[in-house]
Amino acid sequence: EHIPVICIDGPTASGKGTLAAVVAQKLGYHFLDSGSLYRITGLAATRAQIPLDVANEQAIADLLQSLPIHFEGSHIWLGPEDVSELIRTEEAGMNASRVSAFPMVRAALIDLQRRFRALPGLVADGRDMGTVIFPVAPLKVYLTASAACRAERRYKQLISKGISATLPSLRADLEARDARDANRSVAPLRPAQDAKLLDNSELSVDQSVEIVLNWWQSKQ
Ligand code: C5P
Repeated sequence: EHIPVICIDGPTASGKGTLAAVVAQKLGYHFLDSGSLYRITGLAATRAQIPLDVANEQAIADLLQSLPIHFEGSHIWLGPEDVSELIRTEEAGMNASRVSAFPMVRAALIDLQRRFRALPGLVADGRDMGTVIFPVAPLKVYLTASAACRAERRYKQLISKGISATLPSLRADLEARDARDANRSVAPLRPAQDAKLLDNSELSVDQSVEIVLNWWQSKQ
């Protein structure tokens, strides 16, 4: 019960993943990338040819029960297949956002996420880490950046990987995803009441890391 958790929630492409991974590494804590679970769910359902609509939420939640998901460092395996790259596409993100709106899918992932909490501590990144999964976490950060800024970061990321993209369509996609995440009935994207807000539009990764580590230190 005394295992500390730091929650980092926020919208698409706010830099949560990077920030959470660095903070975890600096503290020697475990790391949960909860979005990857929804991404894998979308991938598995698509492969099973289950249309991603709410009429199939039970089938998708059932499918989840038997999915052989394994985390190994920064790699994620689905059975014998390394799906780390495959789940990072924009399409996988959009599919993740669809299945993540289904209450049964969210419920099916709760225990799995809580099991990541282990000594010496956990840094968890997502949309509802502070509001639903770890409500008593001692530090909750809600990370944001302007939509223009987030679209530009995503653009640079994709281009550097040799994936073609255009800024306006990326921005439209991320705003659509934010709207869906914020307007769903279960675990909508919003800051926990006791979350600390951090807008990193004008900050480097190092600066954001330092702020979060300082907040963490002040809790000790
Ligand atoms: O963070 P990431 O972009 O990988 O998340 C993909 C999608 O999964 C999000 O757009 C969101 O719909 C969903 N998600 C969620 N709850 C979380 C993490 C992700 O609903 N804790």
